[in-house]
Amino acid sequence: MFIETLSTFPDMYSSVMGTSMMRIAQEKGILQFKAHDLRDWTHDRHRTTDDEPYGGGQGLVMKCDPIFEAYDDIAAQDPQGSTPYTIFLSPCGEQFDEGVALDLSAHDHLLFICGHYEGIDERAYSLADRCISLGDYVLTSGELASMVVIDAVVRRLPGVLGDEGSAVDESFYDGLLEYPQYTRPATYRGQSVPPVLLSGDHAAVDTWRRHQRLIRTKRYRPDLMTRANVNDEDQSFLNSLS
Ligand SMILES: C[S@@+](CC[C@H](N)C(=O)[O-])C[C@H]1O[C@@H](n2cnc3c(N)ncnc32)[C@H](O)[C@@H]1O
Repeated sequence: MFIETLSTFPDMYSSVMGTSMMRIAQEKGILQFKAHDLRDWTHDRHRTTDDEPYGGGQGLVMKCDPIFEAYDDIAAQDPQGSTPYTIFLSPCGEQFDEGVALDLSAHDHLLFICGHYEGIDERAYSLADRCISLGDYVLTSGELASMVVIDAVVRRLPGVLGDEGSAVDESFYDGLLEYPQYTRPATYRGQSVPPVLLSGDHAAVDTWRRHQRLIRTKRYRPDLMTRANVNDEDQSFLNSLS
């Protein structure tokens, strides 16, 4: 997969994209990443990317002309001779979740366009295939948001996670939260690992983990329960709790 970003602070990506899974994905040749500086498509001495809002009001708005020009150049370099699937980060977009990450992981070429200041001139959104929000809060700029999305997408690419089963076991994969995890020592500061995990009985461990996922999801994210794959056995366990 080829992922590109367009923003005014491209240096923000170097740490995250050069660490852990994002670095490994690039070393394995599964991911190619490039962070573009929007200022490279400005034409004035100050490399201006923002201006005052029409109609008045607080703050500055990102100009649409450098974004269109950058898009044209980036699209012209598309390895398949197509155009990148283009995502704008905005608090006004659809809510990001694992399902959106999975959808995005099916594309060969993604372009993330990040806002700053009060946001982006609305005309630039005509380039968007998708507009994504991380949640109901406002960040200073889109780079952090795009890194969260990129990380979640890249983890879904085949071959990125060492153990192919890892994603399957994780929260949201089948609609439930993950079960609690433990490692050595078996007892620490008076807290012991649940005995079933030390029993060597794999079937009992599986059942315990499934029950823990149900308990956790019901407790912390009851909204997920309506969409989760809950079978008859799960339902009787849940009924036994109340
Ligand atoms: C300060 S914010 C602009 C907020 C905008 N004035 C509003 O009220 O919706 C600047 C940029 O940060 C990014 N951003 C902020 N919050 C975000 C969120 N919850 N999800 C995704 N991107 C966000 C967007 O790229 C946005 O253009």
